[in-house]
Amino acid sequence: MIRSVVRGIGSALPRRIMKNADFEGMVETSDEWIAQRTGIRQRHIAADDETTASLGEAAARAALDNAGLTPADIDLIVLATSTPNNTFPATAVEIQNRLGMRHGFAFDMQAVCSGFVYAVTTADLYIKGGLAKRVLVIGSETFSRILDWSDRSTCVLFGDGAGALVLEAAEGQGTIADRGVLAASLRSDGTHKDKLYVDGGPSTTGTVGHLKMEGREVFKHAVGMITDVIEDVFTQADISADDLDWFVPHQANKRIIDASAKKLGIPEDKAVVTVHLHGNTSAASVPLALSAAVADGRIKKGDLVMLEAMGGGFTWGAVLVRW
Ligand code: ACO
Repeated sequence: MIRSVVRGIGSALPRRIMKNADFEGMVETSDEWIAQRTGIRQRHIAADDETTASLGEAAARAALDNAGLTPADIDLIVLATSTPNNTFPATAVEIQNRLGMRHGFAFDMQAVCSGFVYAVTTADLYIKGGLAKRVLVIGSETFSRILDWSDRSTCVLFGDGAGALVLEAAEGQGTIADRGVLAASLRSDGTHKDKLYVDGGPSTTGTVGHLKMEGREVFKHAVGMITDVIEDVFTQADISADDLDWFVPHQANKRIIDASAKKLGIPEDKAVVTVHLHGNTSAASVPLALSAAVADGRIKKGDLVMLEAMGGGFTWGAVLVRW
C-alpha cells in the first residue's frame, strides 16, 4: 500500500526573542508566574517584515534542502494557519509563488493549534488518493498580530514561528513496521467556541480581532481530549505507549504535556518539549518541536512518533508516524 513518508523537515523563527522578563512593566506579571504556570521562558516575535508567508517560505525551503529536493518536485502545499497574511488568497498560494512554483496546487487549513495534525492527515489522504506524490506540509503562525497586548492572561502565552515537512509517496507493506503516516484520529466540537476564539473576522466585525481565552476551562478539557484521540490511535495501530519512541505534543503548556504523558504512561524523557523556547506557536508548534528533536539527533529514521494537538474550536487530534 501507499505510505506518506517523511523525506525532509525544516523550521524558521523570527529574529527577535522576547523573554518573560520583557513583559514586566507592560502588564502585571513576572517571569516566575509565567514559568511556573506554563513552562514558557521565551518566545520569538515577528518584526514587520516577517509574516506567516515569509516564515512559512523559510521553513519550506529548509525542509526542501533537508530532503534534497527543489520546489519543482512538490505537487501540493498544505499550510496550517489561523494567522494568514490576507483574508484571501490563501497564504499557501503566496508561499507557492514565493517558492517559484508555477505548477501544482496549494491551500490553507484552519484548525487553530490542531492545524498541523489536520494538515498531515489531509496530505496523507491526498497522497494515498493519488492526487499528489510529494506534499509540503507547513505550520506557520504570527499569533503576536492577534494578541491583546494588554491582557496578561493571554499575551504571555503565544509566539511566532513556522515548521515544515516534505511527505512523499512510498510503497509500504501495510503493517506497523512501515515508515510514514500509520494512523490518525481527528475530532472537533463547536460547543466550546466561547472558551477560545478570536473576537473578529471578515463576515462578522470586518476586523481581524483579538484572541480571547478562558485558560482554566481550556486546561480542564485538554488532557482528556488529547488522551482520548491518542488511545484511539493506539487501538487502530494495535500498539501501546511502550511501543512509542517519541511523543511530540502541541506545545501550549508544560503542565498539560506532563499530565497527558502521565495519564498515557509515556515516560517524561520520551516527550519532546520546546514550549520553554517558543511559547505556544499554534499550528507551528508540533513541526517546530519535531525539527528540534530531529536536529539534535533524538528522532531517527525508523522511530515511532506520536504527534498530538488541541486548540480553538475545540479541535483536537493525533497522528502516528514512523520516521
Ligand atoms: N501573570 C500573573 N498573573 C496572571 C497572569 C499573568 N500573566 N495571567 C493570569 N493571572 C492571574 C489571574 O488573573 C488569576 O488571578 P485571580 O486568582 O486573582 O483571579 C490567577 O493568575 C490564576 O489564573 P488562572 O487562569 O486560574 O491560572 P491557571 O493556573 O489556570 O493558568 C493558564 C493559566 C496558563 C492560561 C492555563 O490555564 C493554561 O495553560 N490553559 C490552557 C491554555 C492552552 O492550552 N491553550 C491551548 C490551546 S491554544 C489555541 O488553540 C490557540
